[in-house]
Amino acid sequence: MSLKVVIIGGGSSYTPEILEGLIERQPTLPVSEIVLVDVEAGKEKVATICQLGNRMIEEAGAAIELTWTLDRRSALKGADFVSTQIRVGGLAARAQDERIPLKHGMIGQETNGAGGIMKAFRTIPVLMEVAKEVQELCPDAWMINFTNPAGIVTEALLNHSAHKKVIGVCNIPFNMRHSTAELLQVPPEDVWIQFIGLNHFVFGDKVYVSGEDRTEDVFQKLLSKEFDYSPANIMPLDWSETFIQSARLLPNPYHQYYFQSEKVLEKDLKAYEENGTRAEVVQALEESLFDLYKQESLREKPKELEQRGGAFYSQVACSLMDSIYNNKEDIQTVNTWNHGTIPDLPYDAVIEANCVITKNGPKPIAIGEIPAPMRGMIQNMKAMEELVIKASMSGDYKDAYNAFLVNPLIQDEKKAKVVLDELLEAHEDYLPQFKR
Ligand code: G6P
Ligand code: MN
Repeated sequence: MSLKVVIIGGGSSYTPEILEGLIERQPTLPVSEIVLVDVEAGKEKVATICQLGNRMIEEAGAAIELTWTLDRRSALKGADFVSTQIRVGGLAARAQDERIPLKHGMIGQETNGAGGIMKAFRTIPVLMEVAKEVQELCPDAWMINFTNPAGIVTEALLNHSAHKKVIGVCNIPFNMRHSTAELLQVPPEDVWIQFIGLNHFVFGDKVYVSGEDRTEDVFQKLLSKEFDYSPANIMPLDWSETFIQSARLLPNPYHQYYFQSEKVLEKDLKAYEENGTRAEVVQALEESLFDLYKQESLREKPKELEQRGGAFYSQVACSLMDSIYNNKEDIQTVNTWNHGTIPDLPYDAVIEANCVITKNGPKPIAIGEIPAPMRGMIQNMKAMEELVIKASMSGDYKDAYNAFLVNPLIQDEKKAKVVLDELLEAHEDYLPQFKR
């Protein structure tokens, strides 16, 4: 058996990572064909990535045929895995998602608050189209989605497209597990974090090492700042003892947006006024990455890629493909249907959960009720996500406004309208469903 992997958004600067992962896994995951797909605007980038990828393949002596195309339909034929890592509107659109809310004194971020909602509005229709093609052209393929907001996008696809083999992934649970392992000086395979919640809103409920409860140790290390699992795009963790000891849940770095809003806003406003928001930082980083990628002498994934927040995402993707293909039945943290795993969230909601990975997909492990301190917040976030999906599909202004209203980073009914209107206008070209 030889496998075909199609990467939608193959011109992403992250792609060398997933290529490296697929090359390394050749002994257990026999991928013989990889096709990078992109759109006209990404043509030059995808060609550069393809050349670098072929040098990496040659260097490793792997038998993989790597090509690129702008013809998505032809690429999808015969695919076994389709990874989706697109950014509709590119980094310029991300900059608007960050800058417009900030201009009105709100947190502007690519997956949280108004920016995250707009990213979903731009992305969901495009990925619905991709899922439709996957269903038609390679119905047995697994779609592995990285595109943010990954949890929301995955729920939209699972509940509204005909293709049901869709899994959402993120590097945050991976980072949390691996940093915990490093800190406790144990192998990552021995660390079990009981995750509960949603993508970019997931908590660690308990931490076990080979069955031994080490939760308190981890809390202590977090408080003594020995511990930081925040990705490059978010400031280092800084939680108070009162927060940790009262909530008794291990937060993820994105929780700062909700529970340290003032501090985050202050920092982001400073960036907005001075040296640019994250999108602008990433734009510069991307330019230097692509300069590197173009160098003929580069034959591996460069270390510099670790400056991106999503570093290591490909380890998540590749181990997922490996476990599906080999029916490994190991446990990985992915975004999938709740289906009763957390009884106080809707049955068809997508959650980020520990799952047994089988050839029939992820099977979430029952968790039970959400601990009281965060139940309301998680339910509120899920309600917001549902409204976002509804609006993405309907293109109805009122639906969009409702999503804004429920989002804890927006709320103010008048400002919500101002920011929504401005964002809808700024992204008009990428929001055909909202055209009136
Ligand atoms: C984290 C998140 C990813 C996100 C990335 C942003 O790792 O889990 O979902 O894409 O950060 O990183 P960037 O370098 O684009 O700011
Ligand atoms: Mn993520």
